[in-house]
Amino acid sequence: MHPSHRTRVRRRDDTADGMSGGAKHVATVEARDEVAPDIALITLRLPDPAPTPPPGSHLDVIVRLAAGSDTRSYSLVDLGHDDGLLRIAVRRQRDGRGGSVWMHSLKPGDELEVTDTVDEFPLNPGAAPSVLLAAGIGITPVLGLARALRARGSAYRILYAGRSRDSMAFTAELESSHPGLVTLAESARGGRVSPADVVAGVPQDGVLYLCGPMGLLRDVRQAWQQEERPPADLRFETFGTSGNHPARPYRVTVPRLGVTVEVPVGTSMLDALEDAGVEIMYDCLRGECGLCRVRILETDGTVDHRDVFLSPRQRAEGRQMCACVSRVAGPGVTIDC
Ligand code: FES
Repeated sequence: MHPSHRTRVRRRDDTADGMSGGAKHVATVEARDEVAPDIALITLRLPDPAPTPPPGSHLDVIVRLAAGSDTRSYSLVDLGHDDGLLRIAVRRQRDGRGGSVWMHSLKPGDELEVTDTVDEFPLNPGAAPSVLLAAGIGITPVLGLARALRARGSAYRILYAGRSRDSMAFTAELESSHPGLVTLAESARGGRVSPADVVAGVPQDGVLYLCGPMGLLRDVRQAWQQEERPPADLRFETFGTSGNHPARPYRVTVPRLGVTVEVPVGTSMLDALEDAGVEIMYDCLRGECGLCRVRILETDGTVDHRDVFLSPRQRAEGRQMCACVSRVAGPGVTIDC
């Protein structure tokens, strides 16, 4: 899995050009710095600097692609600079559609279109003890959340998973700002995140914040449910594009409607079918509610379940998939909906 950016799946109530409903601005690139291999910290100046956004906020950015443009959502990186500038971190995704490569090509003085910041991953009110779990580029919102928890005087600790310290962005900033509170899980050194252990380590009155790929969220969420912890005390953001297989184009056929369409990389099955006039109910568009489930009749590939709704048993049965996020690794799938 190669998340280049923390991407929300675009909501259907977005405006026609794909950006979420806030005001649009032209931002100017102040700086672009490599903060880890394939990760660029991009500093943006808005024409009218806004007050510091709440921790956990993100920014929608229009990125240029070889064919057209698209919207990407990036968490704001809070490094404690109160200078009115916005910072985002972008992982270059070599097998993506080109948006992250374009972001990495930006130079100081370049302009790009962005929206108002959006706050969809807020801190819990109150002073509950917190565990912040980040994987890969999921560290970006955690920087601001941890800073806010420290300012509040709340109890918290940070668990940060990645391949190795050298490949993980912002480790030095985290460790200097939160001494003794950061644990790195470096997979190259055998470090791993055990969802059961993570959940067990959250105090009974505590809150777990998670930002990482869908598979990690699914496993942690399952452990959270097994322990019968309050759902509201697990707060998360995930990479809408991440899965167990690289995204490839595939074909989806709905025999009952006589429809066959290609699902390109960067487009969901739901979007591809909707563009072909097939209506499917949906709500969250994040793989959480299950409303967009379709029935699998046949597949000549592997279903790459990227939702957190289906149970392990349902995924193993292979009879349904969530059209908003899940894909097929292989030539195609035949469904009913
Ligand atoms: S719309 Fe909620 S899981 Fe797809």
